Parts: sequence; C-alpha cells; structure tokens
Amino acid sequence: MRKILLVFVFIISNAAFSADDPVTGLKIAPGWELIRMHCGACHSYKLVTSQRADREGWHDMIKWMQQTQNLWEFDPVIENQILDYLSKTYSSRENLRRQPIIDSLMPIE
Ligand code: HEC
Repeated sequence: MRKILLVFVFIISNAAFSADDPVTGLKIAPGWELIRMHCGACHSYKLVTSQRADREGWHDMIKWMQQTQNLWEFDPVIENQILDYLSKTYSSRENLRRQPIIDSLMPIE
C-alpha cells in the first residue's frame, strides 16, 4: 500500500512540476502559448528551443524572418510578450557550459 502511494505521489508531483510541454518541447512559462501558436508553422520548435539570445537578438531573428522568410507581422503588444518569453526562457545569459573538472579528477601527469 505504501509503495503504491509513493508511486502515486511521484506521478502527481512529476506532472505538476514538468516544465516542458510534451508536444512542442517548449518550456511552460507565461506567454508560451504564443510561441506555440506563431513559431511552429515553418520549422520545428527545436529550432526555437535550441537557440539562445538576449532580447535584441531574438528581435533581430524575428525581423529577419519577417523580412526574408514570410513571417507575419505581430501586433506590438503580442510581439512584446513573445520577446519577454523568449528572452527570459531562452536567454543568452543562461550558462550552458558544465563546470570545469576538479583537479582531483584530472589525469595524473
Ligand atoms: C513563416 C515561416 C516562419 C515562422 C512562422 C517562424 N519562422 Fe523561424 N525561421 C523561418 C525560416 C525559413 C528559418 C530558417 C530555417 C533554416 O535555416 O533551416 C527560420 C529560422 C529560425 C531560427 C534560427 C535562426 C538562426 O539564426 O539560426 C530561429 C531561432 C527561429 N526561426 C525562431 C522562430 C520564432 C521564435 C518564431 C516565432 C516568433 C518563428 N521562428 C516563426 C521561418 C519561420
């Protein structure tokens, strides 16, 4: 009984804290539905989730897609929300590198 309860608690907590949308892979945070709506028609969401940039960088990419790839224009309020989400969730400030290997784990010279 206890085991079943534990498994149940595990499943519930996993569902509650899972941060990625299972269909698109987008991180679930305020505004993510806008990205689901506007950013998956021409390419995989992976192109979005694998990219990192600051607000200006994301703005430049969107402008580039609008000027050369037929991406539609956004209402300024919507564009702001999209940029908020992208620059917070897929920020260039996020540290993607692992920590350096500690000395005691390095090969002996
Ligand atoms: C109308 C089609 C279209 C839509 C909608 C679209 N894109 Fe793109 N996007 C493209 C094309 C085409 C490329 C180039 C793909 C390639 O290089 O294979 C691209 C490339 C990208 C790249 C890679 C840029 C780089 O420098 O490598 C990112 C990131 C990206 N898009 C994000 C987005 C985001 C965020 C949205 C939603 C706001 C979006 N896309 C919506 C057409 C679109």
